[in-house]
Amino acid sequence: MNFKHIIIQGIPKKLPSKKTYDSSVNRAPKRKDILSVKEKKLAISNALRYFPKIWHKELAEEFKLELANYGRIYMLRFKPVYQIYARPIDEYPAKIKEAAGIMMMIQNNLDPNIAQHPDELITYGGNGAVFQNWAQYLLTMKYLATMDDKQTLHLYSGHPMGLFPSSKKAPRVVISNGIMIPNYSKPDDWEKYNALGVTQYGQMTAGSFMYIGPQGIVHGTTITLMNAFRNILKKGETTKGKVFLTSGLGGMSGAQPKAGNIVGCISITAEVNVLAAQKRYDQGWVDILISNIKDLVLFVKKAKSKKTTVSIAYIGNVVEVWEKFLIEKIDVTIGSDQTSLHNPWSGGYYPVGVSYEEGNIMLKDDPKKFKQKVQESLRRHAKVIRAHTEKGTYFFDYGNAFLLEASRAGGDVMNKDKSDFCYPSYVQDILGPLCFDYGFGPFRWICTSGRSEDLKLTDKIAEKILLKIRKNAFKEIQTQLDDNINWIKNANSNNLVVGSKARILYANAEGRIKIALAFNRAIASEKIGNIVLGRDHHDVGGTDSPYRETSNIYDGSKFTADMAIHNVIGDSFRGASWVSIHNGGGVGWGEVLNGGFGMFLDGSDLCNKRIKNMIFFDVNNGIARRSWAKNANALLAINKEMKKTPKLKVTIPENVNTSILDSLF
Ligand SMILES: NC(=O)c1ccc[n+]([C@@H]2O[C@H](COP(=O)([O-])OP(=O)(O)OC[C@H]3O[C@@H](n4cnc5c(N)ncnc54)[C@H](O)[C@@H]3O)[C@@H](O)[C@H]2O)c1
Repeated sequence: MNFKHIIIQGIPKKLPSKKTYDSSVNRAPKRKDILSVKEKKLAISNALRYFPKIWHKELAEEFKLELANYGRIYMLRFKPVYQIYARPIDEYPAKIKEAAGIMMMIQNNLDPNIAQHPDELITYGGNGAVFQNWAQYLLTMKYLATMDDKQTLHLYSGHPMGLFPSSKKAPRVVISNGIMIPNYSKPDDWEKYNALGVTQYGQMTAGSFMYIGPQGIVHGTTITLMNAFRNILKKGETTKGKVFLTSGLGGMSGAQPKAGNIVGCISITAEVNVLAAQKRYDQGWVDILISNIKDLVLFVKKAKSKKTTVSIAYIGNVVEVWEKFLIEKIDVTIGSDQTSLHNPWSGGYYPVGVSYEEGNIMLKDDPKKFKQKVQESLRRHAKVIRAHTEKGTYFFDYGNAFLLEASRAGGDVMNKDKSDFCYPSYVQDILGPLCFDYGFGPFRWICTSGRSEDLKLTDKIAEKILLKIRKNAFKEIQTQLDDNINWIKNANSNNLVVGSKARILYANAEGRIKIALAFNRAIASEKIGNIVLGRDHHDVGGTDSPYRETSNIYDGSKFTADMAIHNVIGDSFRGASWVSIHNGGGVGWGEVLNGGFGMFLDGSDLCNKRIKNMIFFDVNNGIARRSWAKNANALLAINKEMKKTPKLKVTIPENVNTSILDSLF
């Protein structure tokens, strides 16, 4: 059977042979053994729903073993034997191109060159799942291959509930991940219901098929780091010879060394998992691997004296580096952390003093002790960061819940009156005021032809449009435009593509709409093939996350999630090809609701309307909410937008004189 036939078959007619455990790929850590015997039976019975009765006896034994060995039932035997990667769109069996585009995005998210734990269908962040198991993948691909443009596929946490009649204008796929009854949305609830096979943690772009490899994050990280340096460097100072110390070379964190090189500093990224570090090294994302702390100190001192731009991966625990640099008096200009602390008890953060291998064993055999070690480590981590910041280091939380978990562990991360953290998040200081409030966010596109020439042409188109917009741009957004013009000019030579031919660019509503319309024209005139548009959920309007995307909202509404819900509903009837809404992403289950979309460009007039209507709403819904919270930059942006767009009428807040309030109490 060829690839197309295998896809259309869905669940195979013949039981595939059993797979042997492949330890050469990066495997997900064993998840917590949380189910009672009764619940384990339910989990196995849930899994068997996908298969004919005749296989149940054999599969029941195997699924029991998977549950015991991995804490989840992945149905590893059903992983297809064909290679999984973003194929050119014409290679997919499909009645409609829109569906083929979605299949391509799914495969890109499961490509072993991209996915963190490909066998367990995890794309990034330790637990960011595309599907819970291989049966869901097989069935979804079959539904997409057979659907027409008057049907919509509904996915419940990876499970394809089915195709429902809809209309041409409706989204082709509606995705929800991890949505729970709010009172049942605590970390152990997630472990339990995920183990039962009824929910999954879709992260942001994994469960919405919009992850495009670390490139997506390199750009955001570069912008963050660049502006972090701008915020603190004194006049005349440059990034040369300045140290950026952080951790994590995983899915997103792996972008840090590359960003450090683009910015021109010395970056040290600690990583406990040698396989993760090696992967980034092999891809050319980090210059050098060092596993001995003494060698690291010597190397950094030399690089500082020579002001070399270099990115170093230290194979070991980040706390060791912070502590050693304190003793060795190595000044850290900027510090951060990108361990997966949104997932602290299941392998997101490895405690200092315990090797990676020992940590994994402890996690499996003694999760209580592991948790205790993580909390001890976080207290030590916080203490040494405090010592560095007192000497001048600028430390910011990178949206990985470091401050949240360190505070829960009793670490020294609070301000004097204990009312708030003593360090800002990168959104509070940098991305919020400088980007999100003006509507700049991680817009992206994917060339479905798989041709590099298409990508090059789209880069040129985007550059031309940004240059045109820059001519009349108001002064507050000129730097953002300049950074992005610079980015897109160099994007190709930075060699950032892993997997599909994709590009990311921070743009505001005007930029996103004009670029998308220009792409649609180029498709209509057959200069390029079809394009998929999308964005990271980590954006202006899709995500309510009080410790990250909406951390710079100060009217109390950061603990509400209306914006994300309006985003996904609003996008769905304005022209998205698929929409998604997730509980959890980045900062953890129960800590965030995030919405996203994908849009397939086919060169048609209808597509022009969709672009104008949907992208406009997607961005301005977020700016409106930010302006209602009285964020000055968002107010400026939305007032300007209302002048340009008469049909936009946003409620504008009135400022209150604080003396009136003070006189009340
Ligand atoms: N890059 C961004 O722009 C961005 C934005 C928001 C949030 N985040 C957050 O950053 C975190 C990391 O994301 P990811 O996709 O890279 O996750 P990941 O799990 O793929 O990578 C984290 C890496 O940290 C390593 N690690 C864990 N503990 C360590 C320790 N003590 N010392 C050294 N290394 C350690 C792990 O081995 C792992 O490889 C997540 O919580 C994510 O939500 C990133």
